[in-house]
Amino acid sequence: MIKILLLITAFILVAFAFSFIFSFIFGAPPINSTPKTKKTMAEAIKKHAPNTDTIIEIGSGWGDFTTYIAKTFPDKQIITFEVSPLPYLISKLHFKFSKYKNITLYYGDAFKALDEGKVKADAIFFYLCTALLKSKRETLAKHGKYLFSHTYKIYGREPIDVIKTHDYIRSDILIYKND
Ligand SMILES: C[S@@+](CC[C@H](N)C(=O)[O-])C[C@H]1O[C@@H](n2cnc3c(N)ncnc32)[C@H](O)[C@@H]1O
Repeated sequence: MIKILLLITAFILVAFAFSFIFSFIFGAPPINSTPKTKKTMAEAIKKHAPNTDTIIEIGSGWGDFTTYIAKTFPDKQIITFEVSPLPYLISKLHFKFSKYKNITLYYGDAFKALDEGKVKADAIFFYLCTALLKSKRETLAKHGKYLFSHTYKIYGREPIDVIKTHDYIRSDILIYKND
């Protein structure tokens, strides 16, 4: 019995380590946003893109932020992508058992899906690192009317608005407008 428990624990630890390594390779670890950030992000979307019927999230992580946005905007469709296998599976379970039916989750690279025209929305939000935002800045300039970035700046661009969260990690929301 103890051996089985140890094996399960080892499996879970390896799966989490793998997931973090995978996410670092792809640009951002699956770290949850703080409750204040979620609230501020929702306020930012209400302020700048109140009439959008679809919101895209790049990177669902474990799915917490997605369900918060789905709950806050029950009349909007939330499309979210996750590129890392373990967070994807956990998000999938999370959404399956949540009461919010306005979420669509895809496995894979959100930037590729945007460039291929598979999804479209006026509002796109993300919590990704500076290097990824720099390498994907051309894709980000082409899609979505408003981009809502948690904490990190998009290289070479000035946000039209910055909304402070006043949380302990000072994770402000930066809003960018595409032409
Ligand atoms: C910092 S977490 C943010 C999770 C959630 N959005 C939040 O704010 O709580 C970033 C997530 O984005 C995912 N990710 C990174 N690049 C991606 C891409 N190109 N397409 C889809 N997901 C991506 C990572 O695997 C990670 O789970």
